[in-house]
Amino acid sequence: MENLYGNPSFSLLLFLSLHLLVVSSLYQRFSPVDNYLINCGSSDEVSVDGNNRKFMGDSVKSDSVLMCGTRTISIRDSNPDLGLSPIYHTARVFTKPSKYEFEIRDKGTHAVRIHFHQLNSAKYDVSDALFHVSVNGFLVLSNFTGYDNENARIKEYLIWVDAEKLVIGFIPSKRSKFAFVNAIEVISAPKDLIADTAQFVNGDSVENFDGLTKQALEVVYRVNVGGPKVTPFNDSLWRTWVPDEEFLKFSEGSSRVYTSGRIRYQMGGASREVCPDNVYNSARVISSSNATVPNHNITWGFDVVEGYKYLVRMHFCDIASIAIGLIYFNVHVDGHLVYKDMDLSYITNEVLSSPFYADFVVDGDSSGVLTVSVGPSSKSFPYAVDGILNGVEIMKLNNSMGSLDGEVSVEQVLKNWPRGNIGVSVALFASVCLLLTASLLMHRRRVGVKDSVAWSPLPMDISKGNLKSNNQFSCGKCCIFLFKYIVLCWLY
Ligand SMILES: *[C@@H]1O[C@H](CO)[C@@H](O)[C@H](O)[C@H]1NC(C)=O
Ligand SMILES: *[C@@H]1O[C@H](CO)[C@@H](O)[C@H](O)[C@H]1NC(C)=O
Ligand SMILES: *[C@@H]1O[C@H](CO)[C@@H](O)[C@H](O)[C@H]1NC(C)=O
Ligand SMILES: *[C@@H]1O[C@H](CO)[C@@H](O)[C@H](O)[C@H]1NC(C)=O
Ligand SMILES: *[C@@H]1O[C@H](CO)[C@@H](O)[C@H](O)[C@H]1NC(C)=O
Repeated sequence: MENLYGNPSFSLLLFLSLHLLVVSSLYQRFSPVDNYLINCGSSDEVSVDGNNRKFMGDSVKSDSVLMCGTRTISIRDSNPDLGLSPIYHTARVFTKPSKYEFEIRDKGTHAVRIHFHQLNSAKYDVSDALFHVSVNGFLVLSNFTGYDNENARIKEYLIWVDAEKLVIGFIPSKRSKFAFVNAIEVISAPKDLIADTAQFVNGDSVENFDGLTKQALEVVYRVNVGGPKVTPFNDSLWRTWVPDEEFLKFSEGSSRVYTSGRIRYQMGGASREVCPDNVYNSARVISSSNATVPNHNITWGFDVVEGYKYLVRMHFCDIASIAIGLIYFNVHVDGHLVYKDMDLSYITNEVLSSPFYADFVVDGDSSGVLTVSVGPSSKSFPYAVDGILNGVEIMKLNNSMGSLDGEVSVEQVLKNWPRGNIGVSVALFASVCLLLTASLLMHRRRVGVKDSVAWSPLPMDISKGNLKSNNQFSCGKCCIFLFKYIVLCWLY
């Protein structure tokens, strides 16, 4: 096959871009422009991750909120497990299609995390939860129960946002079912998180895959190879990385390595926001301790669904070699050679412990397992490292229906939802909104601006032109008076 990376112009480009390197400003915390952390079904602000992050309640303590909440219900776990994160003590329940809207100030890729945890509520039986979830027009979950024994389920998506808002919809699968959510995170991603081009593994050839940023991506696996679990507390973007043991398919002759030394992030390579030190500082290697280069790979396998494309991001950082220029190995995805004679020393401009990642797109095939391997190449040296991997991420791409979970689009789901008399309910809702708005404004004039945080952003929002919809009494417009940046209302 073509060795893409042996292509001189590609290598030259890579070399030049790395040659201009400046060691990026280290240890500067990433501070996202959009950073919404929502504790659903609660009016309380709660702290998680060692008090580093505050999730604000989605119901504000004022009678006005009840209005938008008349048909959403908040429930609280009467008897939460000791040690259960406070964001899982409450949930918001929806018996009709509903949505949250987030004002977006920073266009581009956003990380969306949606948290679900089984709640013990007298009013709602979890077995009646069955619903669909949409994010900005992509169907991300369908016929979902939210249920996973005692563990929280955290679904993460990377979504490109080109508009002024991001919309997350919750749609019960039918009238007798309900939807729920415990917490939501919407965070603008660092600009370098998703590059627009990856290498598409098409049989034994590798070609460009463009337009990656515009796909909806679901993070299915995020693995810290050779190391321990990395929690949001230790990740620059509050991600979770799990250990690799459960994914190892073949590891004979491999070993784990760890460094306590510094990870040397460089321009042109991975940044700390793309993958943190805690992932790069451990790896699994295949190495030769004598004159014979071993003749096997290390292989990991991941369950995937046929009919979707997957983005495979492999993280490399040579923390194992004793000197530069000694590491050469091959990289395979689904048994296809995708990177021949990878020369990490060259790629990183001859800096050890300098991170680099490579993105591949591959079709999920009928075997239902996606494999990645690293192993010796014909250039591998004896008495040296002959294969290394520090981390791997597997992300699912939306299909042609704009779905990540089935052959159904959001439009079809909404069209099929049994509706009542929409005209009447919209009119009714609009008039309630009008009344409410008027009374709120009067109330506000009476009590002044200072008494309630919920009101202070109002003039600012208007001056920024956020309420520019023509529809004077639209739900969103009404509810914007109730929440600072979040609108919670019915789709119908
Ligand atoms: C949900 O499941 C039902 C019954 O299996 C199926 O008919 C429907 O298409 C599914 N809906 C979605 C959105 O996947
Ligand atoms: C963060 O990482 C350090 C080691 O780098 C570890 O000792 C600590 O337990 C981790 N903290 C959490 C909350 O995961
Ligand atoms: C080299 O080491 C490997 C395992 O470490 C062993 O299986 C192999 O027999 C050794 N080769 C020689 C020539 O000693
Ligand atoms: C590594 O795996 C690939 C793909 O499965 C295979 O073609 C290759 O022969 C293997 N290399 C070694 C040294 O086992
Ligand atoms: C994902 O959705 C986008 C926008 O709807 C579409 O352009 C793209 O082709 C879809 N991706 C795939 C792999 O079908």
